[in-house]
Amino acid sequence: MRTFSDPQKLQRWCASVRESGRKVALVPTMGALHDGHLSLIAAAKKAGADEIVVSIFVNPTQFGPNEDYAKYPRDAKADSSKCRRAGATAVFFPTPDNMYAADHSVWVVEDGDLSDCLCGARRPGHFRGVCTVVAKLFNLVHPHVAVFGQKDFQQATIIRRMVRDLNFDVEVLVAPIVRESSGLALSSRNAYLSEEEKANALALSQSLAGLKAGPWAVQRRRIVKCLEKRGLKVDYVEAVDSRNLRPVKAIKSGTAVLLAVYDGKTRLIDNRVFR
Ligand code: PAJ
Repeated sequence: MRTFSDPQKLQRWCASVRESGRKVALVPTMGALHDGHLSLIAAAKKAGADEIVVSIFVNPTQFGPNEDYAKYPRDAKADSSKCRRAGATAVFFPTPDNMYAADHSVWVVEDGDLSDCLCGARRPGHFRGVCTVVAKLFNLVHPHVAVFGQKDFQQATIIRRMVRDLNFDVEVLVAPIVRESSGLALSSRNAYLSEEEKANALALSQSLAGLKAGPWAVQRRRIVKCLEKRGLKVDYVEAVDSRNLRPVKAIKSGTAVLLAVYDGKTRLIDNRVFR
């Protein structure tokens, strides 16, 4: 497995791979890798990629001033060996300085209805940071395919829109949410949780599992009650059309139900899409 930190070296190597007719996949991450991330590497393999590049970069521009950028878990050595074992063929560990010039001033912004709701409404500038770094990674790697997780449903929706609207020559795959056997969705931020907080966090997946097709308002009240009973502070509980993220009044095929809560100081998200 190759390791890159210099964006230009990565770009040159990826270009030579593409030139030789081999298929390149990109799996963008912020590290502290868990089985959810590794499932994206498996999906890239399944998609027939010859080279799988995993980027590991805690992207400063997607964190708000009072968020957890400084304390976000970082473990390059462990991440590297997880990537190797999972079948990645290259890892990219840039630094903030070699990703962002001191006078960086061009941003990629979703300026419609996809970013001003849900996490976007609560984390101003978050998706501007995500879109910008993902666009930069697409330009560096020029992958045939890029794999994202449904865990960050709004992010995946916005990236798909970015790819469509800006004509990126990349196929976007979205892989299902990997959960612990308890139902808890894997997340790098689960490392922040105490045992008690982790037990309380089960209310997210449990309340999603109990949902049925039909009117939303009454089911929403039930979810809020279930979350609050476990001491979780609701950030949002919403049912939306999975294509455009607009609120809906009833759950049916194509609806996504998305939750965000504070479990102590830790913000957790989860979702379920009705097929
Ligand atoms: P990060 O939170 O590290 O997640 C990287 C990718 O892993 C995302 O596509 C995310 O949806 C996916 N993922 C996380 N938990 C998962 C789980 N339990 N099951 C399946 N997939 C899961 O998302 C980001 O980083 C960043 O915003 C990034 C796209 C890298 C841009 O900086």
